[in-house]
Amino acid sequence: MKVLVTGVKGQLGYDVMKVLHERKIDCLGADIEEFDITDYAATEKFIKQYGPDAVVHCSAYTAVDKAEDNSDICYAVNAEGPRNIAKVCRDIGAKMVYISTDYVFPGIGDTAYEVDAPKQPLSVYGKSKLAGEEAVQILISNYFIVRISWVFGKNGNNFIRTMLRLSEDHPEVSVVSDQIGSPTYTADLAPLLCDMIETEKYGVYHATNEGYCSWADFAETIFRAAGCSTKVKHITTAEYPTRAVRPENSRLSKKSLDEGGFRRLPIWQDALNRYLKEIER
Ligand SMILES: NC(=O)c1ccc[n+]([C@@H]2O[C@H](COP(=O)([O-])OP(=O)(O)OC[C@H]3O[C@@H](n4cnc5c(N)ncnc54)[C@H](OP(=O)(O)O)[C@@H]3O)[C@@H](O)[C@H]2O)c1
Repeated sequence: MKVLVTGVKGQLGYDVMKVLHERKIDCLGADIEEFDITDYAATEKFIKQYGPDAVVHCSAYTAVDKAEDNSDICYAVNAEGPRNIAKVCRDIGAKMVYISTDYVFPGIGDTAYEVDAPKQPLSVYGKSKLAGEEAVQILISNYFIVRISWVFGKNGNNFIRTMLRLSEDHPEVSVVSDQIGSPTYTADLAPLLCDMIETEKYGVYHATNEGYCSWADFAETIFRAAGCSTKVKHITTAEYPTRAVRPENSRLSKKSLDEGGFRRLPIWQDALNRYLKEIER
């Protein structure tokens, strides 16, 4: 089996490559330097030259607030990019993993979204990621669409790193407590994606670490685990306006993961402790 991983310089792509190497699977990582996914000719040439059996597509435009003012580039990367990759996968019969997001949902209520719940993205980023899902589903049938949320990994910036940085010179930080979701540790998600591509259990999945929290709960747990004395002031979303609207309810149901016979990821507190050890090393 040969696997191509896009977005290898990002958080998730980095860990997917690590797991493939550990499993001694023939793999190749690429980022924008190797080929720009918005350029069909370059995408086709690169992928066909390698000839993978599966493409784990982790690259994306992930600047959620900037996307509100840069919708062209956001759509090009998040919708045209996966469309280009899916077209090439169709030509060569390769499986494709497309990573999506809780932002495709409207974020209302307090129950977990099933994979087929109605979509209603609130932001340009969410709309572009949904357009990417739809493009993949139209073009191929051997896809795994995996929605994740609140991502953290060793290779990149994320909420945990921001909180640790702020704790260096802030005795207190204000964090929203009315947005509820689940963190996703890329080192836990990557083995699941590598398990998926070994199967033909195609479809749409949700995969995050287990358990729910608010961003404020998450911050408090980070400070406690890291031994910082920084306090967390709980604020509302209305008190912390951002360019892009974020969903209040990001709970994702793992029913399809269970039905597919895939193991759920560990609880997020456990993932956080392991991540803090990983970045300390
Ligand atoms: N981060 C989150 O909280 C979150 C939440 C839910 C879902 N997701 C999804 O999870 C996946 C992985 O996210 P991540 O946090 O690992 O992303 P990331 O760290 O931002 O990495 C994305 C990578 O894609 C590259 N890229 C951007 N435009 C490209 C292009 N035109 N051609 C080729 N490569 C390009 C980026 O390069 P540059 O850095 O040079 O732009 C970067 O190396 C994405 O699909 C994302 O939408 C993320």
